[in-house]
Amino acid sequence: MEKEIQDRESELQAALAATKTESALEEIRIRYFGRKGIIPALLASVSTLPPERRREVGRAINAFKDRAEAAIREKRAALTPASVQSASLDTTLPGRPVAEGSLHPISRMSRQIVEIFRRLGFALADGPEVETEFYNFDALNTPPDHPARNEQDTFFLRDSSLLLADPSPKGGRLLLRSQTSPVQIRVMERQRPPIRIVAPGRCYRRDEIDATHSIAFFQVEGLVVDEDVSLRDLKGTLELVFRELLGHDTRFRFRPHYFPFTEPSFEIDGFRPGRSQAGKDWLELCGCGMVHPKVLTGVGIDPDRYSGFAFGFGIERLLMIVGEVPDLRFFTENDVRFLRNLSSPI
Ligand code: DAH
Repeated sequence: MEKEIQDRESELQAALAATKTESALEEIRIRYFGRKGIIPALLASVSTLPPERRREVGRAINAFKDRAEAAIREKRAALTPASVQSASLDTTLPGRPVAEGSLHPISRMSRQIVEIFRRLGFALADGPEVETEFYNFDALNTPPDHPARNEQDTFFLRDSSLLLADPSPKGGRLLLRSQTSPVQIRVMERQRPPIRIVAPGRCYRRDEIDATHSIAFFQVEGLVVDEDVSLRDLKGTLELVFRELLGHDTRFRFRPHYFPFTEPSFEIDGFRPGRSQAGKDWLELCGCGMVHPKVLTGVGIDPDRYSGFAFGFGIERLLMIVGEVPDLRFFTENDVRFLRNLSSPI
């Protein structure tokens, strides 16, 4: 009898070692523990033994039973991870979509504008948002009594000394730049002609916030300085860029205007046939002009040898035209429904 128990135990061990699936393991379990299984049969055979042998043999069978149970449990645990995987992982199913963000419409528009200018040979330039009066006004030929220098129109910083990034700033108080034009000065201070740059960036003005006014907005500044730069270059460049942005059938008119840093100065209006907006046919697009000789002299560029043109326009304004956005505040409220709408290709 003891020999039989030993044989059964080695058989079980060999069978378990060869088992690779849960169903094969279940078959073994039934073979040993089922109603007509090996272990119940062994236990039943105890009653056929002489009474003095029964206790000892019964104990041996029960011990085998415990070891067999443990061995099967262990094998099951070893098989489970693989079997669970094969049951629940279907590698042919499509993946779960990752909730991906996207660029803000202003960033997209800004990149699109820069991309067009790059094709024309312009480089990207940048300047600080916290500026000095010198760069924002004086160097741009803006006289001290100009209305923009009034505290009602520009944000001045109260304690400038705490905020100076540049230990020897040129000229006066710190302010939040009210235009991107100071980038022109910073570029011309560092670089000699030929110069061709665009500089997108944020500007700040004191304003009552409504559908068309904000205290922070984006502009794109542009500057070209070289020998023989004329108004024709300005016109050809800007018409090309705005046609790319607004449609190739866009028509333009150049209205005489005044900016302190250009002479002559213009405002460009655009007209898109069949797409008048808010009842208006002509939409203001951009300020521009030929760089004022005083501005060139101020940065040490000889105005008798070099000439240039400059321009500046609002990115939100352009997006409002292209994307038919009725209210400037949509750009900062960040309602995803609005953002999604405008993030389709423009
Ligand atoms: N800085 C002007 C503004 O904020 C826009 C502008 C006009 C920029 C003419 C220029 C320019 O460079 O030449 O209204």
